[in-house]
Amino acid sequence: MDQKQNAQKPSLKRIAVIAGDGIGQEVIPQALNAVRATGANVEFSEFDWGADRFLRDRTTVPPDGFAMLGRDFDAILAGAFGDPRVKTNIHAKEILLGMRFKMDLYANVRPVRLLDAALCPLKGVEPKDVDFVVIRENTEGVYTDAGGVFKQGTPDEIATQEDINTRKGVERIIRYAFEYCERHTKLDGSPRHRVLMCDKSNAMTHAGGLWQRVFKEVATDFPQIETQHMYVDALCLQMVRDPRGFDVVVTNNMFGDIITDLAAALQGGLGMAASGNIHPGKTSMFEPVHGSAPPIAGKNIANPFGAILTSAMMLAHLGMTAEADKIEAAVLEAVRHQRTTQDIGGALGTREAGEWISKKINAR
Ligand code: NAD
Ligand code: IPM
Ligand code: MN
Repeated sequence: MDQKQNAQKPSLKRIAVIAGDGIGQEVIPQALNAVRATGANVEFSEFDWGADRFLRDRTTVPPDGFAMLGRDFDAILAGAFGDPRVKTNIHAKEILLGMRFKMDLYANVRPVRLLDAALCPLKGVEPKDVDFVVIRENTEGVYTDAGGVFKQGTPDEIATQEDINTRKGVERIIRYAFEYCERHTKLDGSPRHRVLMCDKSNAMTHAGGLWQRVFKEVATDFPQIETQHMYVDALCLQMVRDPRGFDVVVTNNMFGDIITDLAAALQGGLGMAASGNIHPGKTSMFEPVHGSAPPIAGKNIANPFGAILTSAMMLAHLGMTAEADKIEAAVLEAVRHQRTTQDIGGALGTREAGEWISKKINAR
């Protein structure tokens, strides 16, 4: 377990906040208010990294930025990065993927939990049927951006995009998934008991072969945990046909990205999905799964619950489980009473939904 999680009474935690672009600017303030309402002993420091700053002075991450985050903060809460004015998306790549890669936050933990049956597009699916977690490898795969373009602009143009899979990288994420399974229960308190590895080893045989071998090896250290394997295409089918059997899913960077958008739909859409980018013992980063959603930005309609649930995940990671529980309970109540934004059936704006949560937490 992370040292920070062992503390009896959590000392002051310093949180770096990077709201970023688009709806990140709207949902993160609501997450901060929810944390404040719990009375958690935290101090926020806000950073203006994002498209506006980049367009102003061409800075994506200031010199020494990642070292500063790791040195001076206990956790990072981020919004979203991506802006139509920055066509290359360079700032998002340098800030978001920069934090993941340069701070070596190798485990992207994305819980998938249905809070109310009304939020799931599938027929007859209850909250108890959707309570799994995707553990996404976060520092390798096709995201390393190794490759190149040759003979660009000619009929003979060639583009390569390498898929990097190291034994160390594959082993640590698979081990993380087994340890997560061992240590975490489901929402109803029942133990987790199965790790499913998802790959495409029938077509991508070199990388898939490594994942298959390492999965079998690591599994021998966890004889009490059941193992399962699915090709990523079959997993997508099953997630929509019947998500009941999923428990802990471990997969590579790109498949993890794709299946967690699909999984977000099971819980009410991207506005409901939370995530943590974690390296046990190091400063970790928490962000909603969704992006900056330019078409709805600035309209006070974005769902803040993904960001608010993300802040609860961050508090739990920092050992503030009572505070995290307060936030989760308030969101659950808001969903049950339809005190939500329109995307999940309510009539509130981003700010109003956030205020409802803060008031509910304060009233407890
Ligand atoms: P997106 O997640 O921004 O939006 C996808 C769809 O979900 C849109 O219909 C949007 O309106 C909806 N949506 C997302 N969040 C919502 C919320 N909180 N409430 C209500 N509806 C919500 O993905 P996209 O459109 O593919 O990407 C937009 C930009 O965001 C791009 O620049 C992309 O690269 C970036 N992006 C960033 C992150 C991140 O920073 N973590 C994640 C995904 C995409
Ligand atoms: C996510 C996003 C990012 C990813 C993008 C913005 C690079 O989609 O966090 O899921 O692909 O990891
Ligand atoms: Mn994504």
